[in-house]
Amino acid sequence: MSMMERVLELPDQLRWGLDLEPQTSKPASSVLLVGMGGSGMAARVGKLVADSGRVQTAVYQGYGLPAWVAESKPHVIAVSHSGNTEETLSSVERATDLGLPLSVVAAGGRLGDIAADVGAPFIEVPGGMMPRAALGYQSAAVLRLLEGAGAIADPRPALEEAADIVSVLLGSGDGAGFRLGADLAEGLAGRIAVIYAPAGVGSLAASRWKAQINENAKMPAYANEMPELNHNEIEGWGTLRELTQRAIATVFLTDPAAHERVRLRMRLTVDLLDGMLPSAGSVVAQGRSSLARLFSLIAVGDVASVVLAEQAGIDPTPIPVLEAFKQKLAGP
Ligand code: PA5
Repeated sequence: MSMMERVLELPDQLRWGLDLEPQTSKPASSVLLVGMGGSGMAARVGKLVADSGRVQTAVYQGYGLPAWVAESKPHVIAVSHSGNTEETLSSVERATDLGLPLSVVAAGGRLGDIAADVGAPFIEVPGGMMPRAALGYQSAAVLRLLEGAGAIADPRPALEEAADIVSVLLGSGDGAGFRLGADLAEGLAGRIAVIYAPAGVGSLAASRWKAQINENAKMPAYANEMPELNHNEIEGWGTLRELTQRAIATVFLTDPAAHERVRLRMRLTVDLLDGMLPSAGSVVAQGRSSLARLFSLIAVGDVASVVLAEQAGIDPTPIPVLEAFKQKLAGP
């Protein structure tokens, strides 16, 4: 399947989560999600949804685990599409050493074996695709595990809402969101994308936009969130005017459910940057649940990143630099 076919498959991937078997575990008092890159994005989706609930949830992306876990004893949910990512395996090793409750999302690999060895709840996601192309599967699996650990309410209504909205947005490559993504790609072509969004739903979507432009289009992209960027980054656009006008294009992701002061900040920031930086355009989140709003923004960005690649004659699927780097790290 091509990367664009994977993008169009997103609603089906989210719906796949509706039929997963319940994986009930001991109710968690806190949850720590671990995972890197494309899989780390699914971990962050889990935290975003859990943040509106009552169980404290964090994401950790690195080796081992933070020191506080020895005291708090969180339920650790490890997400790795390959099941072989060394940072994630290192976190899982630390979790098992400490006897922390563990759940796993993977398409197989070492992580799948560890889950079987220790009898951890394990959701096996479909393999045979790049990790970033499996975001719908992985997010749905993470949410069902969070549900099983009592950290969130039944996520199926939100998964259905997200799938329905994304389905309409993308159509079969002819929906309004698909066309918007293609238009935004025109404005971003040959430029460094700077994606601005409100903290929360918008900010997580902006991170996905950035990573998808990096990996699919093999182009630089940067993301930042409001209100934080209003305390530093906007001061930096005034001086290298000639360079930034030529090299950068902004995309604004907006969320009607963001805090009203953040929405005001967004409007003021758009006005401030008008004439300073070229803008490729904006995307407005749709939906009631945070999950639907998130994926409504992600879907448009996924399209934009693949169209950017195609327009530049770049194959969006392979990631030779990342692969070569992993090989060097593994040693001779
Ligand atoms: O997009 C990618 O391929 C990467 O960001 C991977 O997701 C990352 O390297 C981690 O690998 P995995 O998802 O297999 O754990």
